[in-house]
Amino acid sequence: MGKIEIDKVAVAMLSNLSVGIGQRVKVNGEEIALFKQKDGSVKAIQNSCPHKGGPLSEGIVSGEHVFCPLHDWKINVHDGQVQEPDVGCVKTYEVEVENDSIFVNVG
Ligand code: FES
Repeated sequence: MGKIEIDKVAVAMLSNLSVGIGQRVKVNGEEIALFKQKDGSVKAIQNSCPHKGGPLSEGIVSGEHVFCPLHDWKINVHDGQVQEPDVGCVKTYEVEVENDSIFVNVG
C-alpha cells in the first residue's frame, strides 16, 4: 500500500475572515497568512517577512498588498513578491474555497 498524500488542508472558515485583515493559521508546522479579497477569494502566503521574519498576518492591508508590521516592507499577497525598493519574496500557497471552508494546498 502506498502512502496516502494529504496536501489539501482545511484551515479556516471564509465567514470568519474579514477583507483587509489577515488571519494566521498553522499547517504542518508552517505558519500561513490568509487574506480575504474583495471578490471573496482568499490568498495565502508564508506568514514570515523575508526581511526579519515579521508576522505578515498582522500587517496593514492595502488592496493586493500587505505592509509588514515591523519595518513596512510591501508585499504582494497574490504572487508573494516584495515591492521595490526592497527585494525578495515569500512562499505562496494555492487556495480553494468550497462552501464556507478554506483549503490550502501545502503539497
Ligand atoms: S521584518 Fe518585515 S520589514 Fe522588517
